[in-house]
Amino acid sequence: MNEAGGAPSPQPLRERRIVLGVSGSIAAYRAFEIARRLQEAGATVDVALTPNASRFAPSFTFRNLVGGVVSDDLWTTDEDPELHVALGRGADALVIAPASATTIAKLANGIGDNLPSLTALATTAPIAVAPAMDSVMFANPAVQANLETLKSREVMIVGPARGRLASGHVGLGRLAEPAEIVGATRALLGRRDGALRSRHVLVTAGGTREAIDPVRYVGNRSSGRMGFALAAAARDRGAAVTLVSTQEPPAGLYGVIVVRVETAAEMQAAVAKRREGIDALIMAAAVADYRPASVAAEKMKKEPGEAGRTLALEKTADILAEMAGAAGRRFVTVGFAAETEDLLANASRKLQAKGLDLIVANDVSAAGSGFGSETNAVTLLAPGEEPEALPLLHKYDVACTILDRVAAQLDAGPLRDGPIDAPGR
Ligand code: CTP
Repeated sequence: MNEAGGAPSPQPLRERRIVLGVSGSIAAYRAFEIARRLQEAGATVDVALTPNASRFAPSFTFRNLVGGVVSDDLWTTDEDPELHVALGRGADALVIAPASATTIAKLANGIGDNLPSLTALATTAPIAVAPAMDSVMFANPAVQANLETLKSREVMIVGPARGRLASGHVGLGRLAEPAEIVGATRALLGRRDGALRSRHVLVTAGGTREAIDPVRYVGNRSSGRMGFALAAAARDRGAAVTLVSTQEPPAGLYGVIVVRVETAAEMQAAVAKRREGIDALIMAAAVADYRPASVAAEKMKKEPGEAGRTLALEKTADILAEMAGAAGRRFVTVGFAAETEDLLANASRKLQAKGLDLIVANDVSAAGSGFGSETNAVTLLAPGEEPEALPLLHKYDVACTILDRVAAQLDAGPLRDGPIDAPGR
């Protein structure tokens, strides 16, 4: 197991059994990486290949990568004689990647003449299909009609991407990136049985940048990682997720709507615009408290003989306090308290002052914690509850604990109106 700073690697697909169906496409070799990533995410992976797929990507190689069943043969006697039934019943999800035009046609029409297509007929698990083919084939009305049929049956279609194809042409037809396909698998499972399915979660991430002049800014060390982990963990629990971020998120946040912003004012506007209908707001962003009072139109120049310069700053709006204090608020609010001293006292003061439902107290000066690190050691504080100190964990696992608390609060019943300390709450 990979460890980051002493914390175990997250396993978002722990206790899940995924059947990876592979069909005949030049992109079949990429299924090795998909299988490996699914397994690293904690899943037990079975691989069902079409006979054509095994010419591109031999089953022997998959046997060295995954712990589950690997087969390309309907007539094998070593495995279960009804292997497709066993694979279909055992699967938590079936992911067909790459899916050729022929395999897509078989899936749309209920034809089962090889292991992946028969397994698709023999399962009630959710199915994701990642097409890969030449762009002219992909645009063919027959392929498009078959994909529409699959979508109407709630099959998730992942990609394809635009780019250079095996034929040498550039177009729409490349297999989606393995990280995206794994992200899609996590979304698929979350939508089936996640604790936040049919919920909408708004997450902010990263440090804001406030311009001084066209080339300089006032900023902070936030990497956005905690916010990305929260977006992924909410998505994995089935939520519709919007991420307002100052940083480009990593690949694999499949299904998350990303809104890029730079300044505190832009973040405030983006959050206000998307607050309608949300069930939770989680502000992991490090929002600037002050911005330069005026922005120079041209790059500022040194003056000869100048010993120093004073930068006048003005206050920004407190986005979280405004959102949490809004009259009639019906969503859970979660804040972060990034501190370098008096962690719990400062965090508990912010919890109260901003009227939050939960605050994540984070000593950003501790080893393995805070900005830029893959791990975090935090304490969770909620009104009227004992603080819960979590051990040093990967940020994804911290995010999971936070979202489990959010889900429990949402399940506990409708939120009362207004901020916590307001009359009538
Ligand atoms: N926050 C916000 N808008 C701001 C400042 C902070 O929404 N202008 C949010 C942050 O996203 C975080 C929480 O408020 O969830 C606490 O942020 P933090 O910087 O720790 O606290 P401040 O309220 O800014 O107080 P101080 O800087 O004095 O510690």
